[in-house]
Amino acid sequence: MVCLGNICRSPLAEGIMKQQAAQAGFEWFVDSAGTGHWHTGALPDPRSIQTAHTHGIDITDQRARQILPIDFDRFDRIFVMDVLNLNDVLRLARNESDRSKVSLLLDQVYPGQNQSVPDPYHDDDGFEAVFQMLELSCAAFVDRYQPA
Ligand code: 4NP
Repeated sequence: MVCLGNICRSPLAEGIMKQQAAQAGFEWFVDSAGTGHWHTGALPDPRSIQTAHTHGIDITDQRARQILPIDFDRFDRIFVMDVLNLNDVLRLARNESDRSKVSLLLDQVYPGQNQSVPDPYHDDDGFEAVFQMLELSCAAFVDRYQPA
């Protein structure tokens, strides 16, 4: 799960995907990162911590980090929150295999529509809406792996 700062959106996405994968009985390794380095080592934004907590998810074990090219080797799928992140992560890709792992998270719900999870950093009221988008998208992804 990748956003810009790795303190608002992607920590929520990591927490939600971990919870949903666990509920589905999947042992997936889920992590998050930012394209930027500014918040490296920081806790998630207090508003993300609070929003997750409201939904019964604890994300206080997370610390921000920057995405690295080696992440293309460590992960099968890389979900980005917005088109800016998409371009930044694709620029790190070393080959077609790397590129094929990267997609917008909202493609899980709105394929082909290039929809972005809005950056809530400057919008105190945006966090719950972001949570809802992330939850829908993660559920759609997890559902694809459920036995029919
Ligand atoms: P995020 O939000 O990408 O969802 O973690 C942001 C957090 C920090 C900044 C921008 C976006 N920033 O400019 O510091």
